[in-house]
Amino acid sequence: LDNGVARTPPMGWNSWNTFGCNISETLIRQMADAIVSSGMRDAGYQYVVVDDCWFNPNRDASGNLQGDPTRFPSGMKALGDYLHGKGLKFGIYQVPVDKTCAQYFNSYPGATGSQGHEAQDARQFAAWGVDYLKYDWCSPNGTINDQVATFAKMRDALAATGRPIVYSINPNSIHAKTGPQRNWGDVANMWRTTEDITLAWDTGQTNGYPMGVKNIVDVTVPLAGYAKPGQFNDPDMMEVGRGTLTDTEQRSHFALWSIMASPLIAGNDLRSMSTATQTILKNPRLIAINQDTLGLQATQVSYDGSRRVLAKPLAGGDVAVALFNQGSATATVSTTAAAIGKSGSSFTLQDAWSGATTTSTGSISASVPAHGTVVYRVSGGTSTPPTTTTTTIVSASSGR
Ligand code: GLA
Repeated sequence: LDNGVARTPPMGWNSWNTFGCNISETLIRQMADAIVSSGMRDAGYQYVVVDDCWFNPNRDASGNLQGDPTRFPSGMKALGDYLHGKGLKFGIYQVPVDKTCAQYFNSYPGATGSQGHEAQDARQFAAWGVDYLKYDWCSPNGTINDQVATFAKMRDALAATGRPIVYSINPNSIHAKTGPQRNWGDVANMWRTTEDITLAWDTGQTNGYPMGVKNIVDVTVPLAGYAKPGQFNDPDMMEVGRGTLTDTEQRSHFALWSIMASPLIAGNDLRSMSTATQTILKNPRLIAINQDTLGLQATQVSYDGSRRVLAKPLAGGDVAVALFNQGSATATVSTTAAAIGKSGSSFTLQDAWSGATTTSTGSISASVPAHGTVVYRVSGGTSTPPTTTTTTIVSASSGR
């Protein structure tokens, strides 16, 4: 979407993965403080997104949305002001239908969706200083069927406010009508590619509920051709720093999101991050690859069902390469400079994790632990411009 924002993948934090409906202005302010004190803001994490359950279950007498009076007693404008005062940006959650996902599934009271209130709600968000709207399709009753027209309505309502607002949509919650089978780049800045992520490596889902990290990669890699500045595939908020996944898996998760030009939206409790978690989330070399100005998503160079090689052309001619071992034992994962569009006789490979560099005459190879990902930034030689990728359509999500 060409609305001036999200020229590179948005980075930030979202409340849902760790806190669900247990949110308050106190919690969000603590998280904002932690983003600053941990160095996350300075690493690029900007948007603080208040997910579902911030609502007063009743609109006011004029039909305006209001924050929950107990948990957000200062109001949503005050929260936005607090975030802006910290050099951060304000994100909020809403749905195009009658009820939010939590109003359908988590017994959250009310029916405060934007259906029939699109322009009014967009104006309200702008007045609160909202910089990012997560607009989540949750329509188990199928009350609206035309996803494209429905998401476009809020796109136009946001544009009419005159405030630059990142438009993040989720066409995949429940009964997706089009799901990943459409390039949403004309409608939104980012769109979810799958059903919800969960704290798991592999749930066995191909696009049902819930998805593991590896499963989401399977669905999102073929959609590479859709990504460019202003429009990015969204493989969901990250599970880094939330336990369960091994350190190797968390590194893979972050490396793959980075090279897929995915929004980097942390989902962990930022007040209590381990050093290991911070090392992953703040890795400057992977963030630079993610935030590269060409805005390209890595395309698949090779995949044998277990070893996957992805390459992302970068501004200035470097190419980032991911050597991803999806198998259950350590394996050598290899490609060549020629296969990633580089010609020449000498190349420099910088390991994105360690920062160490090696030289190569063309071989790009590493021993990669099970579920691990090695990323190299390859420089030197001459680069052929990236070719247009063919997008393979995956099956629509199955709902939950
Ligand atoms: C859906 C979305 C999640 C989260 C919840 C909130 O499941 O996909 O990311 O926003 O709704 O209820």
